[in-house]
Amino acid sequence: MTGVDRLFDEHPVIMRVVDALSVFVDALENNGDENRSELMRMMTFFREYADLIHHEKEESLLLPALVNAGMRWDVGVIADVRKDHELERSMIQTLRYASLQSSAWSVVDRQRVIDVGRRFIDYMRQHVTVENESLRPLIIEKLDDASRSELDAHLDRFDAKLTASGELEMLTDLAINLGETFTRR
Ligand SMILES: [Fe+2]
Ligand SMILES: [Fe+2]
Repeated sequence: MTGVDRLFDEHPVIMRVVDALSVFVDALENNGDENRSELMRMMTFFREYADLIHHEKEESLLLPALVNAGMRWDVGVIADVRKDHELERSMIQTLRYASLQSSAWSVVDRQRVIDVGRRFIDYMRQHVTVENESLRPLIIEKLDDASRSELDAHLDRFDAKLTASGELEMLTDLAINLGETFTRR
């Protein structure tokens, strides 16, 4: 499996936790289930895996490779993806702070978690669809064989460190566990 294949295989892992968050938000709204330690585990996953690993690989390796191949950094799909990452990062931060809050959630705090949670879920679903359908074909279309091999090699190096430390496995297990904990009945 190439580095690019692995990068796009991370999308279903992320979507598993997006679906878990959707179950969490519905339970919070409908039954008042305030399971903050579970929200904290989800935000740990999104911060460490979706943002610091997955988005970082896209922003520091994939997008620059496409720009090197002549694509624009500041307009079109590349600009859109970068803007999404920024917004998603700030929503993760908001939800993380809520999960770490030492006092009880007020009505406003709870509504904020529901609203930001739902917006984040919609954003992530749309974002991953755009990347799969619009960004991925550009890798084939725009990169020549040498650039594609170079990108794969960079991604391999990035992943090798995270695999050796056990971090990737730990975060993948966390995603599986969250998916099993929050299922639709
Ligand atoms: Fe992304
Ligand atoms: Fe992505």
